[in-house]
Amino acid sequence: MEKLLQLQKITSEEARIFVFEGEKFGFDVKRIYFTRDVPVGQIRGHHAHKALRQVLLCPHGAIRVTLDDGLGSKESTVLDTPEKGLYVGPALWRTMEWLKPESLLLVFASQNYIAEDYIRDYDLFLRFARNQSK
Ligand code: TYD
Repeated sequence: MEKLLQLQKITSEEARIFVFEGEKFGFDVKRIYFTRDVPVGQIRGHHAHKALRQVLLCPHGAIRVTLDDGLGSKESTVLDTPEKGLYVGPALWRTMEWLKPESLLLVFASQNYIAEDYIRDYDLFLRFARNQSK
């Protein structure tokens, strides 16, 4: 279910540069946003998307991402290094737990913000996931 992507790390004088080539995303990036200033311990997300595809990065701090496919599989990944990206496809119920202060969640998304693409009710999500898998 989970697809971890490795960023290229370039160590130059007094800096580290992290590079992720566009073709590794598997989709055209339509939008970029980030979430910051979240208190440690807060768990965000609690939704799935019908079509949206995303790559999540945590360039600073640590965030635990848990993905549930609604069909019995649930996997957690701690994004705690800028070198790691996580591809999150559609029909996955996600939660993101802030583990460290000042953690930053950077998201590359395949679509603009579309409120109707969200599934925020877990029972509806389970039905959606079952239908998708048929
Ligand atoms: P949401 O995606 O639920 O955040 P998280 O996954 O971190 O819990 O978004 C939180 C709120 O912000 C929700 O009311 C929708 C709104 N929002 C926008 O208006 N535009 C956006 O691009 C995003 C990502 C969220």
